[in-house]
Amino acid sequence: MRKALFLGNWKMHHTILETKSYFEKFLRLLLKHNFSDRTVGIAPPFTSLFYVHSLLKETPVKLCAQNAHFEEKGPFTGEISPLMLKELEVEYVILGHSERRHLFGEGDELIQRRVEGVYRAGLVPILCVGETLNERKEGKTFERVETQLKKGLAGLKEINPERIVIAYEPVWAIGTGVNATPSQAEEVHNFIRGLLEELYDEERAKRIRILYGGSVTPENVNELMREPNIDGVLVGGASLDPEKFFKICSIN
Ligand code: G3P
Repeated sequence: MRKALFLGNWKMHHTILETKSYFEKFLRLLLKHNFSDRTVGIAPPFTSLFYVHSLLKETPVKLCAQNAHFEEKGPFTGEISPLMLKELEVEYVILGHSERRHLFGEGDELIQRRVEGVYRAGLVPILCVGETLNERKEGKTFERVETQLKKGLAGLKEINPERIVIAYEPVWAIGTGVNATPSQAEEVHNFIRGLLEELYDEERAKRIRILYGGSVTPENVNELMREPNIDGVLVGGASLDPEKFFKICSIN
């Protein structure tokens, strides 16, 4: 019912030159296989989107973006509009990533507007949620995730479940080499599924994909993906290496 989604978030990595050699390797590996049962995508930095768009044109790999503004255009220095992303056939947009929240001060209200703007422009928002280490230690994981999810989706009373994705990324697992165990992740994914059921209905909640992100590697992806409510992964560090990311995308 839910097609698995494997997304690479390059963050602020790879110049255009590096991107060229990455895709030579990655596409050589990927195009030998028929992955009709899954979706693979990569979110490069904005400066490479135009170039990556041309490289991915005839391939099944989806182009993704790492953020977007909610307006089509206007005086918003440093921002990129959903319309500009659509022109490059970007399909998925990561929003509310923990680095945007914690390093750049993006709050739930701004993230909600971004999610709504991106959705209404016809792109698929990937709303990221997740607790910090302190919040987990204090037993506030569910409370934190619930607030982020409900506020992030507040502008979308009616949704097409295929056109929204949630990513659970515990902050303590991002870039640390310490991933959530499959049961820790599943517990939160299951909780998120329940919240989606409350917000929408059972049928739609069942169709929304919930990704796990945080130190995913070729070694741990299998056991994470075996959990019933983990529908895919959002990969940072390990997606920077074409061979590693291919291994992740090609699990059985
Ligand atoms: O969006 C992906 C992410 O934040 C996880 O990063 O490096 O822990 O895989 P990483």
